[in-house]
Amino acid sequence: MAGLTHPSLVILSGAGLSAESGVATFRGADGLWEGHRIEDVATPEAFKTQPELVHRFYNMRRASLKTVEPNAAHDALVRLEREWPGPFLHITQNVDDLNERAGARKLLHMHGQLRQVRCTWCRAVLTWDGDLETSSACPECARAGKLRPDIVWFGEMPYYIDEIMRALETVDIFLCIGTSGVVYPAAGFARLAAEHGCARLIEMNLERTGISDHFTEQRHGAATVVVPALVGELLSAS
Ligand code: OAD
Repeated sequence: MAGLTHPSLVILSGAGLSAESGVATFRGADGLWEGHRIEDVATPEAFKTQPELVHRFYNMRRASLKTVEPNAAHDALVRLEREWPGPFLHITQNVDDLNERAGARKLLHMHGQLRQVRCTWCRAVLTWDGDLETSSACPECARAGKLRPDIVWFGEMPYYIDEIMRALETVDIFLCIGTSGVVYPAAGFARLAAEHGCARLIEMNLERTGISDHFTEQRHGAATVVVPALVGELLSAS
């Protein structure tokens, strides 16, 4: 690639990336949404009417982060971030912290983060590792009852959309890992990238998804197998 502009790379990851670390995915058998109605735990309306239930759901998920570790796919993506010679951006829909724990830096959490809470009164965003209760006081403004999980719920606007849209305008290689492609706007990123001229779009998943037709290549298999293999290929060709 000497003398040429290095190609830009954008990654979109979903729950399948963390599945082999032991973090439950959302859909399918044993998925998180199997035991819960989305509208009971992942909407602003649910938080208004049943805040205790919503807190319990996210407290359990936050606590479970202490029992899991990054896997070989997270590690491979960090290697790619460090060694890729061109522009690099990893957009994750995951709210766990496994990418950071593996060492990721160029990472956007478009659906928020389990280890953060947000004050709806003073707007402070705070790291939070314990349980959150309806009575918890904001460490910034001291008001009780105003903290919520810093999670993007259904009906809310995902984070970093402007930055993501700019990256999709110039992306040369788009990788999508472990997402079912049913939640928008993320599910539309591959099509948008292709419309902006991205010629290489690679989907990595156990199986085909509803958005597979927007990709130019498929790698079927477990993320811990297919991601390190692809990273090796991309780096040796770069
Ligand atoms: P889903 O649970 O909908 O989909 C997970 C995908 O990962 C499926 O397509 C699986 O086939 C695939 N998969 C599972 N294990 C895998 C493995 N070991 N290797 C590779 N692929 C694997 O999760 P997401 O697509 O991330 O949003 O869900 C998107 C959004 O819906 C989430 O961010 C969340 C949820 O509602 C919010 O909460 C706002």
